[in-house]
Amino acid sequence: MGEAEAAIDDGGLILVSHRGPVQFSRADDGARSAERGGGGLVTALSSLAGQLGEARWVCAALTDEDAAVVAEHDGASFDLDEHLDEHLGPEGGDTDDGLRLRMVTVDDDAHEAFYSIIANPLLWFVQHELWDRPDAPDLTRREHDAFEHGYAVVNRRFAEVVAEEVEEVAAAGGRATVMVHDYHFYLLAALVRERCPDVFLHHFVHIPWPQPDAWRVLPPPMREAVFTGLLGNDVVAFHTERFARNFLLGCQELLGLDVDLDERTVAVDGRTVAARAYPVSIDPEELGERATSAEVGEHERALWGLRRDYLILRVDRTDPSKNIVRGFRAFDLLLRDHPELAERVTFLALLQPSRQDVEEYADYTQAIRRVVADVNLEHGTADWQPIDLRLEENLDQAVAAYLVFDVLVVNAIVDGMNLVAKEAVVLNRREGVLALSETTGAYEELGDFAVTLYPFDVAQQAEALYQALTMGADERRERSQGAARWVRDHDVSAWLHAQLADIAALRGA
Ligand code: F6P
Repeated sequence: MGEAEAAIDDGGLILVSHRGPVQFSRADDGARSAERGGGGLVTALSSLAGQLGEARWVCAALTDEDAAVVAEHDGASFDLDEHLDEHLGPEGGDTDDGLRLRMVTVDDDAHEAFYSIIANPLLWFVQHELWDRPDAPDLTRREHDAFEHGYAVVNRRFAEVVAEEVEEVAAAGGRATVMVHDYHFYLLAALVRERCPDVFLHHFVHIPWPQPDAWRVLPPPMREAVFTGLLGNDVVAFHTERFARNFLLGCQELLGLDVDLDERTVAVDGRTVAARAYPVSIDPEELGERATSAEVGEHERALWGLRRDYLILRVDRTDPSKNIVRGFRAFDLLLRDHPELAERVTFLALLQPSRQDVEEYADYTQAIRRVVADVNLEHGTADWQPIDLRLEENLDQAVAAYLVFDVLVVNAIVDGMNLVAKEAVVLNRREGVLALSETTGAYEELGDFAVTLYPFDVAQQAEALYQALTMGADERRERSQGAARWVRDHDVSAWLHAQLADIAALRGA
């Protein structure tokens, strides 16, 4: 354990996120099973929890079986490893030593309003600036009610639970450090601070933070609740300096607070809140090990069968922010401009269906299917399908595809970080080219090694794809090696240590 970890270890670390490290389910034969929770955030946090001493993790009970586990423990926290060993045997116990899990059950209606009306789409769409504004959003009674009876209720429930955990730490003589994650819990910190004024609170926002005017989509009571809730923290953290600065400008313009843009702080209620940037990353070693597994090997062989002269790849959730439809339209244009590429290039799209109970996401998935059908109809031949669309969650297949792509497309409209770009450049064995949107967080680190994509410019994306496909071997090698080196030198441990070092310094101050 390093100095920074030791400095906060006395108090115990409490992680808070909507999705937790595992999700329980029950098979038809009645047996309980546990799966790792989905998404980049959970992967990064699991690594964080694994590297620290005793951590507690507060998350939502999302399945019926999660709720059963909560009931078995009378709503209290439990040792995750012990529980998995007891119920699933040694096979199930591949998690983080010493981690105590506190799953929180929430009323179904409140959770639906919290998740499907406010967090996604409202906050997600504000922060990714996704609307066609003449038509959306309409903030009707439904959204106001969902904010009050869903988002605020869930935040209050989590705040109570977190305060109980903080008090338990205090009763044992420690001072807890709470690390809250993402856009589900903007109101939480201020509520916890009311009850536990001495706690150290840190909130990491994993998605973009837009300029102040973007927040004017929300009426003052909602946007002020978001900002004042976050200002209950000691540190509000983002992936990039730009997002941190936008947050400070929002505090200044929307709340009229005093901010110091050089020190990156804001003064509120006699306290100082710091806005900081820590670009999240991946664990290259763990990923490298996975890439050597038999399952990945099998997928890799199958993908070699698919690849002709070139393989273009994208790996994404089916999220409107990922700009998948425009990416396929750019590919359509590429094939029109360069008929010599016909039957020589395949665009493999590995897309995980996401948030399909939110209307905007379900509609977007349909739009993806339509554009793929159009492009394949227009350009496909008897034995060549230009776009190979696979709508499924299959991490081994994605890892195999990272090994063999010639061009990786990340053309997101805007993205907090984009870990696909980091995973892919570390694993790729073909000196593949990264084509990366200038509006992703990852671009601040990997932009110099990438072919830049301008997310709204379909014509430019088509030209950039051509440039990437035809780039000379030396340039490809230089760029791909440079990108891989950068990610190896700035891995998830570096992300964690930078935060802990700042927390240790600020707690001591
Ligand atoms: O930060 C955004 C994020 O939480 C990612 O970590 C993750 O990939 C995704 O959203 C998961 O979304 P959901 O929990 O809604 O499936």
